[in-house]
Amino acid sequence: MAKVRFGCSVLTYQLFLLSSLTLLNNTVASGEEAKNFYIVYLRESRVSKGSAVQKYMHLLSSVKGSEHAAKESMVYGYTKSFNAFAAKLSKDEAEKLMEMDEVISVFLNRYHKLHTTKSWDFIGLPLTARRNLKLERNIVVGLLDTGITPQSKSFKDDGFGPPPSKWKGTCGHFANFSGCNNKIIGAKYFKLDGNPDPADILSPIDVDGHGTHTSSTLAGNLVLNASLYGLAKGTARGAVPSARIAMYKVCWVSSGCSDMDILAAMEDATSDGVDVISISIGGPIQNYVTDSISVGAFHAMKKGIITVASAGNDGPSLGSLSNHSPWLVTVAASGIDRQFRSTVKLGNGKSFSGIGINTFEPKEKLYPIVSGGDVAKNSESKEFARFCFENTLDPGKVKGRLVYCTLGQWGADSVVKGIGGIGTLVESEQDLDTAQIFMAPATVVNANDGETIENYIHSTRSPSAVIYRSHEVNVSAPFVASFSSRGPNPGSRHLLKPDIIAPGVEILAAYTPMNSLTGLKGDNQHSDFIFMSGTSMATPHVAGVAAYVKSFHPTWTAAAIKSAIMTTAKPMSRRVNKDAEFAYGAGQLNPTRAVNPGLVYDMDEMSYVQFLCHEGYTGSSIAHLVGTKSINCSSLLHGFSYDALNYPSMQLKMENGKPQTTCVFWRTVTNVGPPSVYNATIKAPEGVEIAVKPTRLFFTRLLQKRSFKVVVKAKPVESTSFSVRSASLEWKSTGYSVRSPVVIYSLQD
Ligand SMILES: *[C@@H]1O[C@H](CO)[C@@H](O)[C@H](O)[C@H]1NC(C)=O
Ligand SMILES: *[C@@H]1O[C@H](CO)[C@@H](O)[C@H](O)[C@H]1NC(C)=O
Ligand SMILES: *[C@@H]1O[C@H](CO)[C@@H](O)[C@H](O)[C@H]1NC(C)=O
Ligand SMILES: *[C@@H]1O[C@H](CO)[C@@H](O)[C@H](O)[C@H]1NC(C)=O
Ligand SMILES: *[C@@H]1O[C@H](CO)[C@@H](O)[C@H](O)[C@H]1NC(C)=O
Repeated sequence: MAKVRFGCSVLTYQLFLLSSLTLLNNTVASGEEAKNFYIVYLRESRVSKGSAVQKYMHLLSSVKGSEHAAKESMVYGYTKSFNAFAAKLSKDEAEKLMEMDEVISVFLNRYHKLHTTKSWDFIGLPLTARRNLKLERNIVVGLLDTGITPQSKSFKDDGFGPPPSKWKGTCGHFANFSGCNNKIIGAKYFKLDGNPDPADILSPIDVDGHGTHTSSTLAGNLVLNASLYGLAKGTARGAVPSARIAMYKVCWVSSGCSDMDILAAMEDATSDGVDVISISIGGPIQNYVTDSISVGAFHAMKKGIITVASAGNDGPSLGSLSNHSPWLVTVAASGIDRQFRSTVKLGNGKSFSGIGINTFEPKEKLYPIVSGGDVAKNSESKEFARFCFENTLDPGKVKGRLVYCTLGQWGADSVVKGIGGIGTLVESEQDLDTAQIFMAPATVVNANDGETIENYIHSTRSPSAVIYRSHEVNVSAPFVASFSSRGPNPGSRHLLKPDIIAPGVEILAAYTPMNSLTGLKGDNQHSDFIFMSGTSMATPHVAGVAAYVKSFHPTWTAAAIKSAIMTTAKPMSRRVNKDAEFAYGAGQLNPTRAVNPGLVYDMDEMSYVQFLCHEGYTGSSIAHLVGTKSINCSSLLHGFSYDALNYPSMQLKMENGKPQTTCVFWRTVTNVGPPSVYNATIKAPEGVEIAVKPTRLFFTRLLQKRSFKVVVKAKPVESTSFSVRSASLEWKSTGYSVRSPVVIYSLQD
């Protein structure tokens, strides 16, 4: 029987990975004795929780040699949605287990990393949006993150009744965490590797700030007069302020977020009764059956729970996406129309606009300025001094001055301040679209302005300058953030990812008092609200809208909610964003329209199983997903369309060297609106021909299904190794527009 092997994967279409995703740790020295954590999946058996764990122990004893050794090494038994355990094993022991009949697969535990006021108005979910409050109060959103800050105003429970009766989650008293309220109704932490993390606390409390931020973006209360030191002042709020929050802390300041913790948390969230799971964690890129987020989300999907996850912050490299399973909603990050800028003025009167969040007002009109490269500590440090790295600058020459530095790594502001400098003017070769928060006066200028400033410093006897406090400027938006991970999907050539894009640049949301604004040495700035940027911040926007849709349509499947979100998205401009759908998927999140999509592309568990078979996975490699069902992939594999999915988007990869590539997509839509007639509208670029059959769909009643096929014929693009062409299919009827992106790409490999 073909079981999944270590190191290699069953994935057939591993395209290319340009990104630099690395394992955070858990790389173990080779040798017999090296032990590591593994997750061992077992065949499903309908036994009680107690006897399941007994069975795990029995299996483990047989390879460990004794029950005592088994007890020592087992860290967790998963019993709620699937049968599995996590244990510390040598490679030999893991391989022995893999040979056993009861064992389906064995995976190495790996470590993942963490990847407003204004943003909701910007995407069209105003304070006054129509709400179904009666149901919204019963929605529970689950987050896997760094923990939460219960004392934050965003999570006070004034006016909230007791948790909904379906809720089975729990919430105890932990270190620095005095239990839940009627807003935060679940809080747990997961740290199965047992290694202490001196920088963190064994408690759902958020020491980092990331989890507090994502939770408040998703479901935070209205908080008036929120700002960061007066910047972006306004009312902070989540998508669903009346919904309840359950926090599953799986990410730790030093060690990141491990597979076995993520699996345990997702299992708990699923059985606790959350409605939506939001995960702003990602990497390393794995396939659809080994990745813990993918596996956990599959089991959640079977219970009707939608999982929304971040695409990653490894852009703009192509193929850098994580969380790209078809049953996940994969979220990219866009910028909104607000940017933070600081004016820099030189002694000669010239001024420049820098990017960055600088809360400091200058005390003097001008300060003397030096260039880092000119004030090196000694001859060895000369070549690094221009980057203002730690221990490279001469404190005597920095004290009381501004320092001009080339961007090497973030934190020059801390280095300069630490040795008595006034502030830092950073020059970046790359044009930045995201503002960094500084712990001392600082801003970032582009290379052009940098050159002018450096020339000024070198051609003036007593050069001087000043950096002003940041202010807001309007920029044109939305645009794809440069850091947002891009397709094509490294997991499958048949599936377009990301699915959707949402605001993820300089989002203001709640923060923890346990961390300074920058986390840098010497920073003593604290704030109840902070700006953060990342696909991590975009994800709770989409999870929030999923919860919002669910508050109107409590019976919809995860696939139907995803379809509603994708087909109502606002198309983005491929002129501005050259990676097109590989950067923004179906387009910008459009909350109020998502509630009323007209038609949905629905899917159930078997649709995904067929997809996996079609992708080359075997029945046994997906056994830990499907449970007791026995899947014979070859019997499932006939008469399929190109992608074997009923997905709300379509993606075709050109066959290299052929004069034309042709494929057929089969789709079925379900009417969730009034009786209507829909007409197909096709948009296709030159060289691409798309035909839909039939071109009109008639619906006379709710939940009626209609099928159609889409035939795409594409001629190759001349002489480029990589191209992405955008087309679309839009079903239109009075008051409704159901749009699917159709992407045709080529890649010489
Ligand atoms: C956490 O609680 C402990 C005592 O329970 C206290 O000593 C410590 O200062 C607290 N830590 C923080 C960061 O509040
Ligand atoms: C709003 O917050 C600022 C600090 O950010 C504070 O100085 C001001 O008094 C607050 N205003 C109100 C009305 O609460
Ligand atoms: C930015 O745009 C908003 C409206 O879109 C306007 O009220 C505001 O004055 C503008 N701010 C600047 C600095 O131009
Ligand atoms: C799986 O299905 C194929 C085709 O229907 C059939 O030939 C084969 O015997 C089946 N295998 C098993 C193990 O049932
Ligand atoms: C659909 O097409 C038919 C026939 O061309 C036309 O009469 C009808 O107005 C169209 N409906 C919409 C909503 O565009």
